[in-house]
Amino acid sequence: MFSENASQHMPQFPESFWRSNLELPSFPKLEKDIEVDISIVGGGIVGITSANLLGKAGIKVALIDAGKILSGTTGHTTAKITAQHGLIYHELMEHFGLEKARGYYEANMSALHFIRDTVLRHQIECDFTEEDAYLYTNTDSYISKLEREMEAYEKLGIEGDYRNSIPIDIPVKAAVRMNAQGQFHPLKYLKKLLEETEHQGAEIFENTTAVDIEQGNEIKVVARNGCTISCKQVVIASHYPFYDGAGFYFARMYPERSYLLAVKPQKTFSGGMYLMVEEPTRSLRYTLCDNEKILLVGGERHKTGQGISTIHHYEALQKYAEETFGINEFLYRWSAQDWTTSDKVPFIGRITSEKPNIYVATGFRKWGMTNGTAAARLISDLILEKPNPYEELFTPSRFNVDPSVKTLIRENTNVAGHLLKGKWESPLKTVDDLQTDEGSVIRVNGKRAGAYKDKNQNVYMVDTTCRHMGCEVEWNSGDRTWDCPCHGSRYSVTGEVLEGPAKQPLNKVEE
Ligand code: FES
Repeated sequence: MFSENASQHMPQFPESFWRSNLELPSFPKLEKDIEVDISIVGGGIVGITSANLLGKAGIKVALIDAGKILSGTTGHTTAKITAQHGLIYHELMEHFGLEKARGYYEANMSALHFIRDTVLRHQIECDFTEEDAYLYTNTDSYISKLEREMEAYEKLGIEGDYRNSIPIDIPVKAAVRMNAQGQFHPLKYLKKLLEETEHQGAEIFENTTAVDIEQGNEIKVVARNGCTISCKQVVIASHYPFYDGAGFYFARMYPERSYLLAVKPQKTFSGGMYLMVEEPTRSLRYTLCDNEKILLVGGERHKTGQGISTIHHYEALQKYAEETFGINEFLYRWSAQDWTTSDKVPFIGRITSEKPNIYVATGFRKWGMTNGTAAARLISDLILEKPNPYEELFTPSRFNVDPSVKTLIRENTNVAGHLLKGKWESPLKTVDDLQTDEGSVIRVNGKRAGAYKDKNQNVYMVDTTCRHMGCEVEWNSGDRTWDCPCHGSRYSVTGEVLEGPAKQPLNKVEE
């Protein structure tokens, strides 16, 4: 158990630093049918930036979110604004060729410049700073990978260099720098865009879950309470697309979780953004908290619903932060879910070629600040019928045999195993065995169920069969959720859907 009072100890409950120190506006629930030009589903960086760009062009927009605006992955990011997305450019050149690899870089750099220019133009106080970004390794076998990445930088004209040290005092065998990237407080930035979008006349709704899209003479986005938004076109910016449109997105992407801590370090952190490329990855940057530099330490990625008990990932990061920087005060801990596509390039554009009025943006592979901004710009250009040089690169209709097929086979084999796993197991534990603040798979009336006992001794029991395609969900001890190992659906302790592809809550179980 963790103590809430000891400042160097881990906070008992996860909470994102970005969401904790900022008051965001509230919006009503959709309670009647409405009609607009464009419906946007999802109030993160893609949804808000798209709504803002379309609103500027005089388009009537409705923006809805299943929960609070900015409560999804955008509120849980590291908020590095960079085109340095790990070891990616050598791989992109191998699989897509020089031009498309350059296109990926340029789309993301252009998104960085868009954010920077928006911050400057509107004088947004969002702690934006220009920082160099570094990939580094402390493992001999990764040195050649960094050398290859540097060669790709040179061929693509990416400004940076190869070096044997980095500006902070940690052991490094090789590093690759990308010059003049950025970081900010993402919610301060998006709050300003949201306010502007509201002034442009957008209708914004929270706690409004989109469950379907009906297509007839017009398109209707259908909310769970039956209310509809009639429109000409829909932008699905819900992280995982709530509507699949026979695009089979759940089979073309896989979900991962990763973890972040915010700490006051004992050692001074001079600046820069860092990513250790070998496993377990480590991500570093600073941000400001009450005008004091605090350190964000991230990493420990794993497939959702799989692997060790999730609290151990937080503990591993805590140990790393303690050993590397020292911890004066442990402020926050939180986690995020990210989707990676089968070829590592996001899906941005028309959901399928048969449904040209429905757009999707997903699969940002942890790099949602630039990829998300690039997505909003590309989709708003498509809607406004303006040319965009990156349409073909990101189109969800693309099919690249290599490496997609290899990855798809690996991911789907993994899913098949999880579909069977646990179905016939008879757990030994019963509800009486649960400790306070413990969740577990238990046996109820001879059958498998999931149960969580809160600090007031209330017990919440759910059927552990995922409502997407029937895999068995697993208890996430770090975040107190039920997570599906197959396609990443996540549920609260009461069974409510936190993240799709599932749309329906877990069934309740009575004793
Ligand atoms: Fe697909 Fe659970 S998310 S079966």
